[in-house]
Amino acid sequence: MLDASKSPAFRAKSLVRFARNSGLYPKNPVVNSATTEPVVWVDGRDHLLFCSNNLLGLSNHPDVKEAAAKALDRYGLGSGGSRQMAANIDVHRALENRIAEFVGQEDAICFATGYMANVGTLPALMKIDSLERLASAQLGGPAQPEAEDEKTEPGWAIFSEQLNHASLVDGIRLSHAEVERFPHKDMGALRNQLGASKKASKFIVSDGVFSMDGDIAPIPELAELAEEHNAMLMIDDAHGVGMLGENGRGSLEHHGVPTSKVDLQMGTFTKSFGGIGGYVAGDADLIDYLRITARTYIFSAPLPPAIAAGVAEAIDIAEREPWRREKALENAHFFRREVEALGFDTVGSEAHIVPTLIGNENDAAEATRRLRHRGIVAPHARFPAVELGRARIRFVMTCQHEREQIEFLIECLAELREGMGL
Ligand SMILES: Cc1ncc(COP(=O)(O)O)c(C=O)c1O
Repeated sequence: MLDASKSPAFRAKSLVRFARNSGLYPKNPVVNSATTEPVVWVDGRDHLLFCSNNLLGLSNHPDVKEAAAKALDRYGLGSGGSRQMAANIDVHRALENRIAEFVGQEDAICFATGYMANVGTLPALMKIDSLERLASAQLGGPAQPEAEDEKTEPGWAIFSEQLNHASLVDGIRLSHAEVERFPHKDMGALRNQLGASKKASKFIVSDGVFSMDGDIAPIPELAELAEEHNAMLMIDDAHGVGMLGENGRGSLEHHGVPTSKVDLQMGTFTKSFGGIGGYVAGDADLIDYLRITARTYIFSAPLPPAIAAGVAEAIDIAEREPWRREKALENAHFFRREVEALGFDTVGSEAHIVPTLIGNENDAAEATRRLRHRGIVAPHARFPAVELGRARIRFVMTCQHEREQIEFLIECLAELREGMGL
């Protein structure tokens, strides 16, 4: 007889009950207005929103909406299939060319989301060996290169930064490659790990801007190590593109690293460009390789054409209106300085993501509740998204926030600190 308490459904329900009863189950408010705006309508009143990724305020820009509306009118709502079947539409190709040009790479491939870009790209690259074997045995394709010496092991080792985004982590899992995580921004440890690896193919992957800490990866050192150890380098610049660097080209430009030093630059259209979708940019042949191997590209539908057209317009505006990223970064700079003056730890944040460390998971949930009470929506990030005991409220500053709104938030955080004895 099946013991009900051992069934997966029973155990899942128990876990949810535990999360609810301990106050840890996330209570995301239902918003009755555009969540891309700094003021949103929740529970019948205005709230200030400090967690939107509409960093440059482009989601609601009239020219972006007009471009999307025209494309909606011309192409309809969906794409009618995957890019390899029906839906290889001119707007998709135009967007790929535009983003490749913007980030300074030869070509780009677009996916329906950034998550799908990462989950598709890593396994696609790591199957080069087996595809080569197949092509050579069945189709007379190129043979695999000989191992350099008997100490070299065939296959891949991925060197993954400790704080990489979950989509990279999941892509790595799906790749079945050997993985070595290196400690956050610890280039000494990475050098040692690369030196000790016997794998024939090495791949270093890091976020450009870390999504929970808001600090920036040491890309010059990563590029140097990649060159030294003949490793490929991929940077996930989801939070950097559009925001960082003199022309908003992202964290490579921020550091003055030439794009030729990075094999693959990944990013999303969800944040700076106010839409949805992901891309991977790089050498044209490498991108063409992904077009025939990335399963999330081949077996899933692409961005709706209206979004692709709207995002291309958003990239143009981001390029010609630098005040948008300058204001978002100025807002972040002001906010960071003021919360640090209150005594909060912002965990090394450098850009527009400004985490405010609370520590204990329950305290962070309580802090979010108290802020809601004051009319502020800002969720907390906690275990397992961040280390246990390092829960934080994750504020995101955009170019649409006005100084008085940020000052009000700071006032509420001062009250919170005092009221909760943080
Ligand atoms: C660093 C990083 N990479 C990838 C993604 C996934 O992007 P998307 O939301 O477009 O799926 C995110 C999303 O927040 C991110 O922060």
